[in-house]
Amino acid sequence: MSLNEFLAALDALAAEAPDRIAAAADLEAWTEVRNALVGRQAGRLTEILAGLGALPKEDRREAGQRANAVKVGIEEALDTRRAALAAAAATSGPALDLSMPARARWIGAVHPVSLVIDDVIEIFRELGFSIAIGPEAEHAWYNFGALNFPADHPAMDMHDTLYLGDEQVLRTHTSPVQVRTMQRYRPPIRVLAPGNVYRRDFFDPSHAPMFSQIEGLVVDEGVSFADLKATLSHFARRFFGASTRTRFRPSYFPFTEPSAEMDVQCGVCGGGGCAVCKQSGWVEILGSGMVHPAVLEHAGIDSERYTGWAFGMGPARTAISRHGIPDIRILYDSDVRFLEQFAR
Ligand code: DAH
Repeated sequence: MSLNEFLAALDALAAEAPDRIAAAADLEAWTEVRNALVGRQAGRLTEILAGLGALPKEDRREAGQRANAVKVGIEEALDTRRAALAAAAATSGPALDLSMPARARWIGAVHPVSLVIDDVIEIFRELGFSIAIGPEAEHAWYNFGALNFPADHPAMDMHDTLYLGDEQVLRTHTSPVQVRTMQRYRPPIRVLAPGNVYRRDFFDPSHAPMFSQIEGLVVDEGVSFADLKATLSHFARRFFGASTRTRFRPSYFPFTEPSAEMDVQCGVCGGGGCAVCKQSGWVEILGSGMVHPAVLEHAGIDSERYTGWAFGMGPARTAISRHGIPDIRILYDSDVRFLEQFAR
């Protein structure tokens, strides 16, 4: 082969390459064209270069340079075409119908009991209360003994309390957090303790084996029953509405003396009587009382110097009277159709 023949073959290849590259309509076709032009196995350029060794020695340098220039030109054109094909492939696809309705995304709703807890916390935070928490698996002494329950109190019976061991129980109320708080912090104390509690009850319209409570505790010098009444009445008006009426009834709890339960006028019937308030016009909202001096002493607080008051409420009961819910079990069914009504 002569140099002229070699160069003519290169020129022919350089002349046909642009059209062939432009004709590649997709990446598959592009690959075929590349193999045909510069493929190492059977590409046209490779065939031409195979003749290089047969050229007279003095011509090889020029032949090699020309071949390389053609190769670089073809590869550049291939790269450009490939980028264009890839970009086209990325933006095409099944047609997008922008008029299709979006798939609704359910983002959940805060549980009505949690809403009560949040609201209660908010109101007491305005009054300077902070939050305390305690363990749900509790020592019997904190749950009963420290709270002045006599050793033979029926609440300590296996029928009422879930025991985890001889001395360990699932707490039956949040009142043990009172004791833990007083052991850890010196007065003045103003805390709210929300949490889950457990009783050996079966589900019925007004009972659940696990439910939440909110405990409140105030300890300071000179704290009186008047403070208790004023604070809890304020709470009721903030929570249920400014015109809400409250009443206190004498009651009994081992850890308070004196003790009182607070009722609010039934929000469902406005006090006229209905199924929610069992026709009485009033709904019991919480238990409360002056902290028994023995409880202060059990927690290491000087009962000569300090007095305190406390309360405990059930947010589920409160949610029920807030919304007129006929059966407490609905709150625990996790039925989204029920729960999402309360979304805020
Ligand atoms: N622990 C009581 C219960 O579970 C509720 C209670 C009543 C808490 C009076 C108190 C209180 O702090 O003063 O029934």
